[in-house]
Amino acid sequence: MTQAAVSEDVWSIKRVLTWAADDLRRRGNDSARLDVELLLGHVIGLDRIGLIMQSERPLAAAELSRFRELFKRRRAGEPVAYLLGAREFYGLSLRVDGRVLVPRPDSERLVEVALLRTRARSMLGQALDMCTGSGCIAIAFARQRPTWNVTASDISEDALAVARDNAHRTGAIRNLRLVGGSLFAPVAGQRFDLVTANPPYIPAGDIESLPVDVRDFEPRLALDGGPDGLDLVREIVKQAPAHLTPGGLLALEIAFDQGPRTADLLRELGYQDVAIAKDLGGRDRVVSGYGPP
Ligand SMILES: C[S@@+](CC[C@H](N)C(=O)[O-])C[C@H]1O[C@@H](n2cnc3c(N)ncnc32)[C@H](O)[C@@H]1O
Repeated sequence: MTQAAVSEDVWSIKRVLTWAADDLRRRGNDSARLDVELLLGHVIGLDRIGLIMQSERPLAAAELSRFRELFKRRRAGEPVAYLLGAREFYGLSLRVDGRVLVPRPDSERLVEVALLRTRARSMLGQALDMCTGSGCIAIAFARQRPTWNVTASDISEDALAVARDNAHRTGAIRNLRLVGGSLFAPVAGQRFDLVTANPPYIPAGDIESLPVDVRDFEPRLALDGGPDGLDLVREIVKQAPAHLTPGGLLALEIAFDQGPRTADLLRELGYQDVAIAKDLGGRDRVVSGYGPP
């Protein structure tokens, strides 16, 4: 065997990264390099800097085989967060899998609005996060407001199991409880100083044209918002006044093109000081308002 043939078979970190990122890029993935770095780093226990520092290190057969398995799944569209089993949100590492929506950086805006617009409330506030999924919003808020009691709810028992695990792992369980059921049903008769939700808000007809990562892997229950995407938003805006304390805040995440329609819904029902907050990309993302007097 020639020297050239031997070195061909050595898969260094650099060679794997280059080959795999090129492959994903050719398939239209616009975060190809990052995806591959995260997957390879996960397999061999290095962060992105470590991968650069050790770029000539050859991969062991077991590492290559584990990487190949994850890479194939990524190539078929499975989200990186599900492959790693984790996603960062508001500085917390949360467990995620196919039972829950992958928390998005844009949803951190909902936490910021909730914190900012309830600053003047009592130290011992009560908050409700509906449609909690992985628990990301409820947990981030509970950690920032340790003197408040936070209730997190979801219609999916599968999602609640993930949220419960995350609440334990992050220590948020100290001031957070989880309840199951549709919208306000599990908190009948209770009132809150803050109600947040990132409900499903994709128009049903748009779901088929979503990227494959979302359409084929994330739970349909987390996406489908009915014919115009606003079925749950309308229901929450309508029911929330019966569950808000005087001056309590409702804050909802919405799609980039649902801001004015949602803000109008709140105003029509008498919510006060209705505001639309933008995400990092400058698009409408969160609509909030204080409950009708
Ligand atoms: C868009 S995901 C949001 C998950 C998480 N809060 C986040 O921001 O990543 C919507 C969640 O709403 C839940 N859901 C759907 N319909 C619901 C309903 N009628 N009542 C309560 N939760 C519902 C889904 O199970 C899913 O977990």
